[in-house]
Amino acid sequence: MANYSKKIMITGGAGFIGSHVVRLFVNKYPSYLIVNLDALTYAGNLENLKDVEGKANYVFEKGDILDEQRITELFEKYDFDGVIHLAAESHVDRSIKDPLAFVRTNVLGTVNMLNVSKQYWSKKGMEGKRFYHVSTDEVYGSLGETGFFTETTPYDPRSPYSASKASSDHFVFAYHHTYGLPVVMSNCSNNYGSNHFPEKLIPLMINNIVNNKPLPVYGKGDNVRDWLFVEDHATAIDTIYHNGENGGKYNVGGFNEWKNIDIVHLLCGIMDRKLNRPAGESAKLITFVKDRPGHDHRYAIDASKLNTELGWKPSLQFEEGLEKTVDWYLSNEEWIKHVTSGDYQHYYEEQYKK
Ligand code: NAD
Ligand code: TYD
Repeated sequence: MANYSKKIMITGGAGFIGSHVVRLFVNKYPSYLIVNLDALTYAGNLENLKDVEGKANYVFEKGDILDEQRITELFEKYDFDGVIHLAAESHVDRSIKDPLAFVRTNVLGTVNMLNVSKQYWSKKGMEGKRFYHVSTDEVYGSLGETGFFTETTPYDPRSPYSASKASSDHFVFAYHHTYGLPVVMSNCSNNYGSNHFPEKLIPLMINNIVNNKPLPVYGKGDNVRDWLFVEDHATAIDTIYHNGENGGKYNVGGFNEWKNIDIVHLLCGIMDRKLNRPAGESAKLITFVKDRPGHDHRYAIDASKLNTELGWKPSLQFEEGLEKTVDWYLSNEEWIKHVTSGDYQHYYEEQYKK
């Protein structure tokens, strides 16, 4: 271990955003040891990381963020300097059906991670240590037609998912103020890009268009989300991990608001072109369905603190990012086939337990 300049545990590294963060850190920082701790729930997919799994500075450890003994053993084994905490239950619709699962993972799991980090680093000294909590803009609630969420917008979560993330955010700062744990946090807008599980809007629509299935748009489709390319979120996390202020909080977003229905039309147009369908063909699949209960109307992130204080900017415009995303799904049929059949859940046993 002694040869690595930093040893970082990334939780939830087999998920959508986590896998992009793992890839970025493993490739950009060969002198860092990156340990991916993931329980491999339905959302964890090690096929996302096939390209990094042979790298010398990458290790996968299966484990649950709620398991105090396992997390403590890993701290003792690797002597981490940092934690980048992404593991969570992340889908609003699932949180409406099973809120307690979100309390367990997002609240209790985060508190367990904070507690083990605090216990281990209290013995070693907090100097040079960092606990980075990855959170969401949804903690701020829902906006009307105007205005933006800033870092000082009062919390007003409205779904079980956002309430669980809001609670975990409060515990992160409670550990900072009460025990001196060095922490940093970011609250990001909706992400899109490759390796996104097809229960979320954009990958679900892409997959359904390919398979000529109905495109379920909730309510009137006039809810607004602010979208960021997932690889840009990963570079923001890199910037904030290395340069963010101790105890700091940063909003992450690209000033890129879209109504759901406009995104679905945009995707239909791109897909008609890529699949050689007549213009307007895929849009015939659009089906308005019953709205999500308590559906937040609008999210919009003001990311100017991150832009001006740390110099981070997103790299892609939305149309360009969507094209890239569609291309990825069309050329990674095997990934989507394994996800929809459930085969991806056997990858760990097949590759790691041989
Ligand atoms: P995801 O659902 O794709 O991945 C979550 C990962 O966490 C999976 O690999 C899963 O196996 C793992 N996990 C779940 N429970 C675990 C447990 N108990 N122990 C260990 N691992 C566990 O989520 P995502 O979309 O990649 O989101 C990652 C983080 O970013 C979350 O904290 C989420 O709240 C936050 N976030 C997401 C978005 C977005 O648009 N997806 C936007 C802002 C913030
Ligand atoms: P989602 O991808 O679930 O992210 P979040 O709820 O965290 O913003 O949903 C994005 C938006 O798309 C949200 O307003 C709900 C809407 N939506 C649909 O209209 N149809 C769908 O099938 C899904 C999954 C989402």
